[in-house]
Amino acid sequence: MQVIHTIAELRQHLARFEAPAFVPTMGNLHAGHLALVRQAKPLGDVTVASIFVNRLQFLPHEDFDTYPRTLQADCDQLAAQGCDVVFAPSEQELYPEPQGFKVHPPTALADMLEGHFRPGFFTGVSTVVMKLFQIVFGQSRGQGHAVFGKKDYQQLMVIRQMVRQFALPVTIHGGEIERAPDGLALSSRNGYLSADERAEAVQLSQALKALAAGVLGGEHNLAALEQLATHTLAQRGWLVDYLTVRRRDDLQPPQPHDFQPGQLVALGAAKLGRTRLIDNWEF
Ligand code: PAF
Repeated sequence: MQVIHTIAELRQHLARFEAPAFVPTMGNLHAGHLALVRQAKPLGDVTVASIFVNRLQFLPHEDFDTYPRTLQADCDQLAAQGCDVVFAPSEQELYPEPQGFKVHPPTALADMLEGHFRPGFFTGVSTVVMKLFQIVFGQSRGQGHAVFGKKDYQQLMVIRQMVRQFALPVTIHGGEIERAPDGLALSSRNGYLSADERAEAVQLSQALKALAAGVLGGEHNLAALEQLATHTLAQRGWLVDYLTVRRRDDLQPPQPHDFQPGQLVALGAAKLGRTRLIDNWEF
């Protein structure tokens, strides 16, 4: 496996391949990321993972400075999955000057849910992903492929729409959420949890399952279900940003005819102590 730190070297290396399969990450990899790499491998003629903690998608009070940087351990894990290339640029390499040009996703998709609680987040994500796509796919002759985890459900939708509207020669694939045996969605931020918080953390996925079960049980008063779920978590000490049921297609609140199997997703974000967790449950 090649570990490459510069854009020029990566471009030179990838020029001999037709169609890369790409998994962008911020490192501190866990089994969820590795599953995305395994999913990517058969899609292209070279498998590339990037590791870059993207300052543009963090708010000033968020964990950019403390986000775990574990390059060597990440590379060892990627090599074990048969990843061919790791692109790990420095900040100076990716942003040698202030990134004045940015990709602003449409407000209808990006200003709700995560975008409401983390303003600018999806602009930061879209901008870095667009830039990484230019670097990884810029010289490919065939259709490229990129795999994003479904845990960041809204991010996956934003990227899909960006690729569609800019007619980028990349097919976007969603990877299923990997969960710990108790049901907690794997996340790099789970490492911030104390032992007590880790035991409690599964309650977020339980709340989402309860929302889904309520709808599947025939309750279509979503406000009531969401309020109950929020109250339940709040009583256990969580600070809930949102717990909600949306249409899978566009993340808008469901209309009466949307209450069909396979159409909906329960999404949630909440803080346990200082750690903000997100999760979702398709049903
Ligand atoms: O999901 C992530 O890890 C990041 O948002 C991404 C897509 C690598 C962009 O920085």
